[in-house]
Amino acid sequence: MKLWEGRFEKPTAKNADAYNDSLPFDKKLWAVDITASVAHATMLKECNIISESDGALIIEGLNAIYSDIADGKLQIAGAEDIHSFVENELVKRIGDAGKKLHTARSRNDQVATDFRLYVRSSFDGLKESLKNLVSSLILRAEDGLDALIPGYTHLRKAQPMCAGHFFNAYSEMFLRDLDRVTESRERMNVMPLGSGALAGTSYPIDRNICADLLNFSKPCDNSLDGVSDRDFVAEYLFDASLIAAHLSRLCEDIILYSTEEFGYFEISDEYSTGSSIMPQKKNPDIPELMRGKTGRIYGHLMAILTTIKAIPLAYNKDLQEDKEGFFDAEKQIISSVDIMAELLKNITLRKNNTTAAAEGEFCCATDVADYLAKKGMPFRSAHAVTGKIVRFCISNGRNLQDMTADEYRSFDPLFCDDICDIVKGVNCANARTSFGGASKKSVEENILSIKQRLAKY
Ligand code: ARG
Repeated sequence: MKLWEGRFEKPTAKNADAYNDSLPFDKKLWAVDITASVAHATMLKECNIISESDGALIIEGLNAIYSDIADGKLQIAGAEDIHSFVENELVKRIGDAGKKLHTARSRNDQVATDFRLYVRSSFDGLKESLKNLVSSLILRAEDGLDALIPGYTHLRKAQPMCAGHFFNAYSEMFLRDLDRVTESRERMNVMPLGSGALAGTSYPIDRNICADLLNFSKPCDNSLDGVSDRDFVAEYLFDASLIAAHLSRLCEDIILYSTEEFGYFEISDEYSTGSSIMPQKKNPDIPELMRGKTGRIYGHLMAILTTIKAIPLAYNKDLQEDKEGFFDAEKQIISSVDIMAELLKNITLRKNNTTAAAEGEFCCATDVADYLAKKGMPFRSAHAVTGKIVRFCISNGRNLQDMTADEYRSFDPLFCDDICDIVKGVNCANARTSFGGASKKSVEENILSIKQRLAKY
């Protein structure tokens, strides 16, 4: 039965129904729909808009429907949307009293409320997943404290770092994501229920009762906005998109660093795949797939932004398009974050390789220039002298670590014997004690700060 069929002489065409119905996907909202309806019925009863006994019957009926769906005894089917399904089922079970549930309410404020409740718990789920991911990164950073890794710019070796620094950088990104998700969740936690179809209602409702029962911070201040605002969906999708962007960078680093050419990481067998033809292959399918899902999540963000663009006030059916993309994005981002947290626990830092690599390809050249500059030579001149040393090494198959102090002195008399120690990778990394830098000490401080910020959640 349609909730609105009284006005119509003929039934809707079958294909129009199929096109219009949202039940196939909005049935996911069954629990929040019932919860919001229980709050609404409680409020109607408390405000004497419906009788005590009708209210009690409705609430009991809704709770029974809830248990039956939860227990798999009641299948969700045969209605236009989840709101119609629950209401039809209620009327089937308790008769006329059930027909009073929709007093002072419209499906417009109902769906806006239901979806907010759903997305709110999705934000909560995303927060938990992000916390777990940062915990995994902390483990890796701690493990990396006694190793070096080269830092790169332009994907060319740049400077040696304590290996933990690499993982901490990703913790910082995901901690910002955690902040962002928390702020988005707070902003969206206002209740549309009581907005009616668009203009509020003439019944003496008390919106604060429902807001309290449903744990919203307050009822929304404007009914037109309440029924038509889907900013919270766009915000979730943006937050998810940025998380996906951060994940895709981490994936790319993991893929690259686990190649035979780099040999910095070994992904465990449990999180690797093979080839059907090449027996030797161990492929990084998981991070590749995760990198690939980024586009799909961005796509859902573009879709909702485009859907809400230029929609006139207030509710329009376009807004039904807010759900499917969201559900998919949520599934993809949660599974990606969760898998990454596990993959990181199952990745080995090949410390001998990363530490050796951190000295190669003249990674320590900046420190040679800094050495001269600290002895009074203007940095620009020190850069030029060091450039000549690097050129000499390249032409003669040498490196900065096997040069003698005398050889250094032949380029400039400021060099003393200690230069041979200065150019060791570990000393270069540990010299970077500036706040937020790559020395072991700074990385330890960074880990502590990450742990403190994480503990606030
Ligand atoms: N299925 C609809 C949606 O998701 C519910 C709201 C319907 N309201 C309406 N006026 N047709 O948006």
